[in-house]
Amino acid sequence: MMHFDIITIFPKVFDGIFGDSIIKRAKENKKIVIKIHDVRDFSLDKKRRSVDDRPFGGGPGMVLSPQPLFDAVKKIKGRKKAKVIYVTPSGRPFSQIHAKRLTRAGNLIIICGHYEGIDERVRQHIVDEEFSIGDYVLTGGEIPAMVIVDAVTRLVPGVLGKEESLINESFEANLLEGPHYTRPANFRGFKVPDVLLSGHHQQIEQWRKAQALKRTEEIRPDLLSQKER
Ligand code: ADE
Repeated sequence: MMHFDIITIFPKVFDGIFGDSIIKRAKENKKIVIKIHDVRDFSLDKKRRSVDDRPFGGGPGMVLSPQPLFDAVKKIKGRKKAKVIYVTPSGRPFSQIHAKRLTRAGNLIIICGHYEGIDERVRQHIVDEEFSIGDYVLTGGEIPAMVIVDAVTRLVPGVLGKEESLINESFEANLLEGPHYTRPANFRGFKVPDVLLSGHHQQIEQWRKAQALKRTEEIRPDLLSQKER
């Protein structure tokens, strides 16, 4: 079973995403456990529950203090082994290869940053890996944490049913997935390619490969020149 622990100052935002569809089913089937931890519960300031402070050296914004994050990770880890991930625009680009690898970690603790970020000592002493989900800046790490949990969960054995197969999907063999069609064969004059109606399995397979390659060349030529990311 895969365990996710998420450390955040906005615990409520995870309810919707993790309460429905495949993630909900994976939880019910005991394939995954997701726990959300409020950083403020670890604040030593019991009255104001503050967890951040102004940056040394000046500058705008606030920085998440080391103490609540150190204490949260220590308590969550307990005796078990866990990989600690920090989501930040300055992390390595998160990709399908990382998602696959993380399914083998067993326990993942994800720290969501905010404001100007987190105290550097957290990154240096308790974070194992840092990921960015793309070259843009979000208001916080909650959406990136959801992205990672979702991408990893669907790769946990037994989470997807046969009909939601992992074969032939985008990024397998560094190719984007080709087009799909369903009935009707002629929708308002827009027709489904003849080959898909032909019943020739070999030809269909060839066509699908060619389409995937064409799409990748057009949209993501960078994928074709890279074997590992
Ligand atoms: N926090 C803010 N923006 C982010 C991004 N693009 N990836 C990961 N964490 C973030």
